[in-house]
Amino acid sequence: MTARRLNEVTVVNGLESTENAAVRSAITGAALHEKLAALGNETYGLQTCERYADMIAEIKHLKIERRAVVLAHNYQRPEIFEVADFIGDSLELARNARDVRDADVIVFCGVHFMAETAKVFNPDRKVLLPDLRAGCSLADSVTAEALAERKEELLKIYPDLKVVSYVNCTADVKALSDACCTSANATKIVERIDSKNILFVPDQNLANYVQGQTSKRIISWDGNCYVHHQITPEEVNKVKRAIPGIKVLAHPECRKDVLALADAVLSTSAMVRYAQESSANKFLVVTECGLSDRLLMEIPDKHFYKACKLCRFMKMITLEGTLDSLKHLRYEIELSEDVREGAKRALEKMLELSV
Ligand code: 13P
Ligand code: SF4
Repeated sequence: MTARRLNEVTVVNGLESTENAAVRSAITGAALHEKLAALGNETYGLQTCERYADMIAEIKHLKIERRAVVLAHNYQRPEIFEVADFIGDSLELARNARDVRDADVIVFCGVHFMAETAKVFNPDRKVLLPDLRAGCSLADSVTAEALAERKEELLKIYPDLKVVSYVNCTADVKALSDACCTSANATKIVERIDSKNILFVPDQNLANYVQGQTSKRIISWDGNCYVHHQITPEEVNKVKRAIPGIKVLAHPECRKDVLALADAVLSTSAMVRYAQESSANKFLVVTECGLSDRLLMEIPDKHFYKACKLCRFMKMITLEGTLDSLKHLRYEIELSEDVREGAKRALEKMLELSV
């Protein structure tokens, strides 16, 4: 499987095997500065980029030494993209984590539940999250205990009830689910699972969105993503009024009244594909801000406007932290075998139903 990077293609499952590979792929501070200039962000001055270039070279050496691959979510900082073997949305990252070969270590530049998914599929590899503060408020909104209680209650009313959990939840919540889903396949999973009554956890906005696409009964949970839930229709309308004809791309974690204003409701990677393929050249990106950075760097001939917010959890991951993670092999994700097996079953069900 090939892995997509911003300006080149590397192989995620075939590790680069020589020291030369790291040297060959090193980037200079000046080149990085020029590349990141597209973002119009003052953070990326020449001095900072020179410091980053040194760290990037060190990380690339360590990746070879440690036989490590780096998986990064679309919301990560652009300097992290420079060391990533694969960049993607939750579904793509889950598939890539499942398909990793020939590596001893997986460094996950994303949030805790994503690193857990990588561990679920890689019990014998070290899976590292560079900063343990990289959690997710949405994942925190459901516990296994609360889910077990609600499931028991609802089964008395709907004996055919199935639990579909959005991947933004902990592994022990996944273990209690019949199938997982991501923003890229939520409707498909709900449609294909063999039940008319679905308890959908934990994102109420995604649950509402799916309810609008299916005749099945969706019972939602009282959770939301603090990043997406704070985006208002007023903010979106303001940009629409100022830039007539702009295409609005929104993530399904946004509120219903925001989604109603969107031309397309998409996962983060689907937004990248949409912008690449669309004949339009102006887009309002309604999701976490990191995605706008990826779009700006990857599709420089189109214009992207942000109605986005930063996710403080995603931004816990830094280049320094990633370097330290590889140096000291920290922080390791551990799962008990019964939770891992249970979560694996629900994740595999998702992968089976979403083909
Ligand atoms: P995607 O799977 O669309 O990348 O979304 C992940 C996420 O955490 C959104 O907040
Ligand atoms: Fe969690 Fe929201 Fe951050 Fe995604 S953007 S990781 S859902 S808090």
